[in-house]
Amino acid sequence: MDSIIKKILDFKKEDIPEYEPYLMLGGGTPGVNLIKGENVYVYDIDDKKYIDCTSQSWALHLGYAHPELNQAVKEQIDYSNHFHTGFYTVPRYLLAKKLAEIFPEKMNRVLFTIGGGATIEAALKVAILNRPKAHNFISLYGAYHGTSFMTTGASHTGTMASGKYHGGADLAHFSQNFIRVPAPYYYRPYFEVTNKDDKDEVDRRCLEALEMQIKYGSTGPVCALLMEPLQASGGQIIFSKNYLQGVRDICNRNNIILIWDCIQTAFGRMGTWSAAEYYGVTPDIMVLGKSMGAGYPINAIVISDDIEGVKMDGIDLHTFGNNQVSQVASLKMIEIIERDNILGNVNSVGAFIRGGLLEMQKKSDHIGDVRAIGFHIGIEFVKDRETREPDYKGCTAMRDKGFKNAVIFGVGGTGQGKAVLKIKPPLITTKEQGAEILDKFRKTIKDVYGENV
Ligand SMILES: Cc1ncc(COP(=O)(O)O)c(C=O)c1O
Repeated sequence: MDSIIKKILDFKKEDIPEYEPYLMLGGGTPGVNLIKGENVYVYDIDDKKYIDCTSQSWALHLGYAHPELNQAVKEQIDYSNHFHTGFYTVPRYLLAKKLAEIFPEKMNRVLFTIGGGATIEAALKVAILNRPKAHNFISLYGAYHGTSFMTTGASHTGTMASGKYHGGADLAHFSQNFIRVPAPYYYRPYFEVTNKDDKDEVDRRCLEALEMQIKYGSTGPVCALLMEPLQASGGQIIFSKNYLQGVRDICNRNNIILIWDCIQTAFGRMGTWSAAEYYGVTPDIMVLGKSMGAGYPINAIVISDDIEGVKMDGIDLHTFGNNQVSQVASLKMIEIIERDNILGNVNSVGAFIRGGLLEMQKKSDHIGDVRAIGFHIGIEFVKDRETREPDYKGCTAMRDKGFKNAVIFGVGGTGQGKAVLKIKPPLITTKEQGAEILDKFRKTIKDVYGENV
């Protein structure tokens, strides 16, 4: 065995204090100490086994240590792992063509990048190339687009969303100034509504606010509107087709490039290859990442035939923007998803989990809202279902007690804390494993709220 691997395997819990002082972490919700994974399960340093509903920041679409994916990666490593972007390489050709095949008809040109924030910035650069005299950008309340200086300005982390200046908000003066407009958060609208369950009214008000900002709230023309088609970190907020089509129409009328941050939604989590396919609405630029390499780092933008792409003039260049191991992993993942009808699995098991959660909601005073498409599932916890007061502490307790019950849930949301529990397991999760997730969720509710659901 290799000496480094031996050292890793010999590492004991008691060794942690010796190493801990050397480390800095800039974010993330503290979890357990993970060692290895298999399928949808992961093991901590005490060898305790958990079912993982986070897919590790929604990245491991094929779960852990998928044997075929591992085999393809091992074979590619013997040929190459890194050639610089300027060299023409075969896996990149194959992947670019494949992406054009699985994404909507007009989305045919791919720029490979690395890192979510930098990739959003690549999309904004393409927008600037196409609208050279427009200098303003719009993003949505509650959005999350990364932590680079520019994307901090576009994200809720760069505002007072959590009620205090910290983290990204400390960087606001360095970041690009985005104009923000309200997103249709139907369960908890940003404004008073006549009827709290009238989605159409929320859509209409948000679209009006967007038009007003473009007309009166922007100093000069707007270059691009950047948004997630389903607002993920901001609380699993599912937008209506009506709203997304409305935004598309407003962008068309105002000559604004529409960028969809598809970093969480692409490659099957919604039961389709993309949110564009799900909704039948297509942006001008799609931003890809996270699951794109099934756990290997790779990002890209895909742009529409209707707009200009970048030239080889150094406008967007990354040393590690052409990693063949990640490209092979991506190709293999797409092949397996197609071959094994994994999108079908996401739709059926996703509906099964959603159904189980809705049944539990009927018996609970604290499950406020269940928002789910495929394996994009969020549960908003409230102190009282009538007042809808968010229960940040309860939601955090659900995650913490989940560890005790051998399940890893995610948390999200933007108010004064995180009130949305996220269930976004690997796309290979079977119905039996879906039932296991529901059982553990039920047990955890009992532990936190004392409810028998
Ligand atoms: C929608 C969205 N955009 C951008 C990012 C940033 O990506 P990265 O963490 O790879 O920089 C994230 C990460 O959570 C995300 O969820």
